[in-house]
Amino acid sequence: MTDWSKSTWRNKPRVQMPDYTDQAALNSVEAQLAKYPPLVFAGEVRSLKKELAKASRGEAFLLQGGDCAESFAEFGADTIRDTFKVMLQMAMVLTFGAKVPVIKVGRMAGQFAKPRSANTETANGVELPSYRGDIINGFDFTPEARIPDPQRMLQAYTQAAASLNLLRAFSKGGFADVHRVHAWTLGFTENDEAEKYRDMASRIQDTLDFMAAAGMTSDKNSDLKTVDFYTSHEALLLEYEEALTRVDSTTGATIAGSGHMIWIGDRTRQPDGAHVEFCAGVENPIGLKCGPTTTAEDLKVLMAKLNPANEAGRLTLIARFGAGKVAEHLPRLIQAVKEEGANVVWSCDPMHGNTIKSPSGYKTRPFEDVLSEVQEFFAIHRAEGTIPGGVHFEMTGKDVTECTGGVRAVTDEDLSDRYHTACDPRLNASQSLELAFLVAEELQKTRSSADLAATA
Ligand code: PEP
Ligand code: CO
Repeated sequence: MTDWSKSTWRNKPRVQMPDYTDQAALNSVEAQLAKYPPLVFAGEVRSLKKELAKASRGEAFLLQGGDCAESFAEFGADTIRDTFKVMLQMAMVLTFGAKVPVIKVGRMAGQFAKPRSANTETANGVELPSYRGDIINGFDFTPEARIPDPQRMLQAYTQAAASLNLLRAFSKGGFADVHRVHAWTLGFTENDEAEKYRDMASRIQDTLDFMAAAGMTSDKNSDLKTVDFYTSHEALLLEYEEALTRVDSTTGATIAGSGHMIWIGDRTRQPDGAHVEFCAGVENPIGLKCGPTTTAEDLKVLMAKLNPANEAGRLTLIARFGAGKVAEHLPRLIQAVKEEGANVVWSCDPMHGNTIKSPSGYKTRPFEDVLSEVQEFFAIHRAEGTIPGGVHFEMTGKDVTECTGGVRAVTDEDLSDRYHTACDPRLNASQSLELAFLVAEELQKTRSSADLAATA
């Protein structure tokens, strides 16, 4: 890494990034951002890495979720609170059901830039450049909106800073106190998942009452009162990432200051490309999306570049193959990891391989496919004797109708009711909770099969 600097990505082939037309405006925004405070600090980044190292050994479990794309228009305290609350609920289900500490990482406070499969979009015979996320251009289908505008980076920074401020307040200020496990159900619409969650909350309440009687309260044990909540996003727009990169004054480590964890998308993981180059040199935990076209060879090269010291917690492999395809692809990548003796967290993204166009024309994801991919992921890890370390979802606390299915059965006809995503379809609150119960079950199965193997 001796010849790495935060700018060396500029000498590498880049894909999925905008061509800004006004170079002077771009330079001035970069200079401005470079003067702003980083959003996260080196010590927090190191703590997350330690937690992820536990997940790589099966001693903790990663729950990563949030919007596909955060939007300027949808920004507000309620949106952040609702997503945060659903993540707490999901984490509670996993902790209580599977008896495993849960590492909570939002796709939040920086998830603004989107890779696209096509450079242009056509509607009513008009062809325009694709929307690439609010940090790059506008969602409106007009030629003006679709011009990449560097000023948007400043607005994204401001929104990320305000979001993170609120998330820190919720995490440490009492909202996340485990004694509020019942209060988090406010706003539940009645369904089986709500019922299951309330049952679980009552059992947790019993335990807390017992603990209080034995003298263990939030006042005496701050772990009951607060949570650690981390942020993450795809490191796609490298001008923004570079401008927020900082050297930690105490250790000399170079940190991407834009979020705790950053990931490399399935379309930007070229081993000699700009995105891998940038991520190789910062010390944050890195996610790497692995799709059907990821070869064992590529994965080996990428692991060597991104984690040369084989540090546990540094690299999370996020598998996203699609329901029915996990058995075809995951085993060869697990084999590559075994051959290299690499320390990784295996996470499952059951969203991005399951996107379809519904008969009514909406981009959607059938909830059954999402569930299937998660089950396939766990089954393969059981068969291979490897550790399923986490899950990665696109979800929101809002009651949207973007993915079909679930206990409250969103149908194709319902999609138009509350379809609000700026990019990919998200699980709504009820679907997210249903998924969490399923993941908890799978984790329990994994634990029993590991116990069996250990006693055999
Ligand atoms: C995403 O996570 O929003 C995304 C675009 O995923 P992928 O790179 O796996 O397609
Ligand atoms: Co997405």
